[in-house]
Amino acid sequence: MANSLAAQHISVIGLGAMGTALAKALLAGGHQVVVWNRTTSRAEALAAQGARVAESAAEAMSAADLVILCVLDDAAVREQIEPAAALLRGRTVVNLTTTTPEQARSLGRWAAANEVELIDGGIMASPEMIGGPASLVIYSGAAVAFDRHRSVLELFGRAEFVGTDLGAAAMYDVSILGAMYAMFAAFRQGATMVRSTGGTAAHLAALTVPFLQAIATSLTDQAVGIDTPADYAQIQSDEFTAAAIDLIDKAAVESGTPTDLYGALRRTLTGG
Ligand SMILES: NC(=O)c1ccc[n+]([C@@H]2O[C@H](COP(=O)([O-])OP(=O)(O)OC[C@H]3O[C@@H](n4cnc5c(N)ncnc54)[C@H](OP(=O)(O)O)[C@@H]3O)[C@@H](O)[C@H]2O)c1
Repeated sequence: MANSLAAQHISVIGLGAMGTALAKALLAGGHQVVVWNRTTSRAEALAAQGARVAESAAEAMSAADLVILCVLDDAAVREQIEPAAALLRGRTVVNLTTTTPEQARSLGRWAAANEVELIDGGIMASPEMIGGPASLVIYSGAAVAFDRHRSVLELFGRAEFVGTDLGAAAMYDVSILGAMYAMFAAFRQGATMVRSTGGTAAHLAALTVPFLQAIATSLTDQAVGIDTPADYAQIQSDEFTAAAIDLIDKAAVESGTPTDLYGALRRTLTGG
């Protein structure tokens, strides 16, 4: 077990793939971890690693100053947290369950009414990545509580605080995921088109990955154009971008696999 300067009692509610990874990272950080899961058998492996298994969510929530929630969705969070309002008063809850920004804000209103300090978090990692160098968790909400618990939260990976609006972390989370899915969709369409010429998706992937890795850094420049347009000299005109996308769209039609994808890209990128 790694040494921790200040071992704390921390509860983890929800031991699916992600909650289990979070609890393991806390144990590895030397903390006293209390866990609870609706299906008790999922807690056995953690018990063997030193976690205390609570008999109920209420028991777990009242065992620690810092309560971490990682269940399926907002409805599951509400189901567990609302009956425990009195127990949670004065404690810090970090909700790492994926929700929409408005669900996070709504939970924040509930937390404020019940004197609970709430931090919302969006995990940009898979369970195996937790605690590793590529793991990122984006947080928003109670800033003072975030600073107080930062060293614990950094056990999960880089901890990035994006503001006191409880919806902010979820908005960054869905925006990053949106970029990922747009990339997946375009790759899948491209693979279909390449295969129509006798090529393979594997070969396309091998050629696409280094290109995208190089081009991804241009997002930093594009961000200047969005945040402060006056400071940005646009490299490609909208006309150039529209013509390029139209050409790709025409190639999709020629390949026999027409798609809505490029029209949506054109409208988003050029407004036309
Ligand atoms: N896995 C990932 O790669 C990943 C990445 C980023 C974010 N996340 C987010 O992390 C959260 C958990 O994901 P996961 O991968 O751990 O999912 P999972 O393996 O499917 O586990 C879901 C967990 O939610 C619990 N649960 C569901 N409904 C519940 C309810 N009504 N009351 C109490 N507990 C309930 C389940 O309990 P039972 O065991 O009793 O069913 C289980 O512990 C999700 O919001 C997910 O979006 C996951």
